[in-house]
Amino acid sequence: MLLKGRKIIITGGPTREWFDPVRYISNASSGKMGIALADESNNISKNTCFIHGPISEDLLKNKPYRCIGVETTNDMLESVLYEIEDNSVLIMCAAPADYSPVKKSDEKIKKQNENIFIEMTRTPDILKNVSAAREFRKLNNLFVAGFAAETSNTEEYALSKLNEKKLDMICLNDVSKEGAGFGCDTNILTLFTRTGSKVELPILTKDKAASEILKQIEKELLKRNY
Ligand code: C5P
Repeated sequence: MLLKGRKIIITGGPTREWFDPVRYISNASSGKMGIALADESNNISKNTCFIHGPISEDLLKNKPYRCIGVETTNDMLESVLYEIEDNSVLIMCAAPADYSPVKKSDEKIKKQNENIFIEMTRTPDILKNVSAAREFRKLNNLFVAGFAAETSNTEEYALSKLNEKKLDMICLNDVSKEGAGFGCDTNILTLFTRTGSKVELPILTKDKAASEILKQIEKELLKRNY
């Protein structure tokens, strides 16, 4: 079975980690690449779901697939672990917050004249948890793709993430290049696969980049005959 008919789970956007009722730690991910992937994926398989952090309502309007809104990295982890199943495809395009405040104040922290320090703890790495779940739950035919947004030693970091997170594919995004990365409508990606392929894509709209990513996943599924 190729992509048609498979469950395809896409994540996108940032997550938020609150430290009082009105303030949070987050990042500038817009969710546009995730939406482009979910749109393209839905053209191939009606069993598409999009797990997203807080992103613009306009981007989510009239989507014909299931959209699941989450807030924190922990929420996203829970939702991803719930949705993955054997034979499904997970594309982790989200930019989950890597740190979360140790304490969340119930009341708004009063402004002071002195500097303040917010102690932060690491959030769980969703992809590493997925790899563990893949072994534990014997999801042998789950296909997992991740993203790497890098500014230096890009290929080296991308390949080490491919190995460390036990991915089937990693989409390297050199965010130092003009026309790539957070917020813009285009992207410049290089795709590396566990089977040793390297595909350098030119600058493309996020829709076209999404279509190339899905084509590459299809090729990998063909190679593995599952
Ligand atoms: O390690 P780094 O955050 O650079 O890796 C990026 C990849 O890891 C992306 O696919 C992102 O969705 C995923 N990620 C994750 N859990 C986190 C942070 C990032 O799965 N807590």
